[in-house]
Amino acid sequence: MEKISIKGGKPLFGQVKISGSKNSSLAILASCLLTDKKISIYGVPKLTDTFFFLELLSSFGVKVEGLKNFKNVDKFVLSAKKITNFNAPYNLVKKMRASILVLGPLLARTGKATVSLPGGCSIGLRPVDIHLKSLEKLGARISIEKGYINAVAPKGLRGNKIIFPKVSVGATVNVLMASVLAKGTTEIYNVAKEPEIEDLGLCLKSMGAKIDGLGTSKITVDGVSKLKETSHRVMFDRIEAGTYALAVAIAGGEIELIGAKKKLLTFFLNILESIGVEYIVTDKSIIFKKRSNSLNPVDIITEPYPGFPTDLQAQLMAVMSMSNGTSVITENIFENRFMHAPELIRMGAKIKLKGNLAIVEGVKKLKGAEVMATDLRASVSLVLAGLAAEGTTNIDRIYHIDRGYQDIVKKLQICGANINRIEV
Ligand code: UD1
Repeated sequence: MEKISIKGGKPLFGQVKISGSKNSSLAILASCLLTDKKISIYGVPKLTDTFFFLELLSSFGVKVEGLKNFKNVDKFVLSAKKITNFNAPYNLVKKMRASILVLGPLLARTGKATVSLPGGCSIGLRPVDIHLKSLEKLGARISIEKGYINAVAPKGLRGNKIIFPKVSVGATVNVLMASVLAKGTTEIYNVAKEPEIEDLGLCLKSMGAKIDGLGTSKITVDGVSKLKETSHRVMFDRIEAGTYALAVAIAGGEIELIGAKKKLLTFFLNILESIGVEYIVTDKSIIFKKRSNSLNPVDIITEPYPGFPTDLQAQLMAVMSMSNGTSVITENIFENRFMHAPELIRMGAKIKLKGNLAIVEGVKKLKGAEVMATDLRASVSLVLAGLAAEGTTNIDRIYHIDRGYQDIVKKLQICGANINRIEV
């Protein structure tokens, strides 16, 4: 079993190339199911989640050029000429909840799909009721049997007006993809405005889909009967970029994030400035530098885009645990997303949890400890804490990190961190 071991206290100096977005990739890869034409995707990050998703697509009969050489290619060519299987089984879906994203495109293309219900995960219950109710509005018949979602639409899907009761990234992705092949017009209200959805939409448009309103809260889709061959480069991973920027905040130093773009990080950059991290935007990167040894506290509330992302909440909590005051973090998206707090407390952080509030009183020092990763973003918050802590931090269950951070150990080593993977 591997752990990540960090000897803290070294500031970071260097360049980090930001990978393609994980969340964007998963949605875009799923879109290949909508057509029998070839779809070439560039910039998919090399993560266990993306590898697994490509394997899932292969299980439906999708040919994936590049899969055998996964770690070394920049381009994957996906061809779903013939779909031979319509079933995403429990043993695959339980490994990755995002498998639910195949439901919409499979159903729209073939008129049937069976996908295991994803169930909850460590950060919350994460129901998929909005996905299912919306697909029903498009004419699908859906039943749940023995933990499986069975969806059928023998005569195809039909456009409709859909109002999401709550903003959901996954439901927006599923319904957007399904409506591309539905007959007539679909209007979807209260959709997620996350840039990853816009990225998916741009890919779908380049395939010939007729979509209006990307990046706003209402998307209109005029269904088409066929899509065409295309190629698309996945956008940069704004959560990975935010994580490295927060690494500079906690460890000190100056790093250049190649491929990061200000436009998609505006809200986050304002928060960084207020806590004491300067940034300079260049045409190919953003350079981050800690202004002084001291960090200011900040209160944040996690919200759908363009608000503060829940996927950076754990990392910010690690940073705030070393600020010169008290910060209040309100988690509004997931009901159980403070699993990193007890681990940070074991490293000397002063954090009190009250429902969806975390009150973080900054301390002067964190101390290295044996800690355990509980989910993707929680695990990287422990890496950040370890970079600044006195002594050695060993992080267990690092398979969570490999789901979402390509080459994190190498990227931090290049910047001077004393971090290694160790076999135990
Ligand atoms: C996606 C991202 C994840 C991010 C999250 C919120 C991917 C692969 N994952 O997850 O990294 O943290 O957005 O930005 O893109 N909900 C319902 N019913 C539904 C769907 C969602 O109640 O049918 C609730 C969820 O439980 C949650 C909230 O809506 O409380 C937002 O979830 P959602 O945006 O759907 O998250 P995911 O798409 O799962």
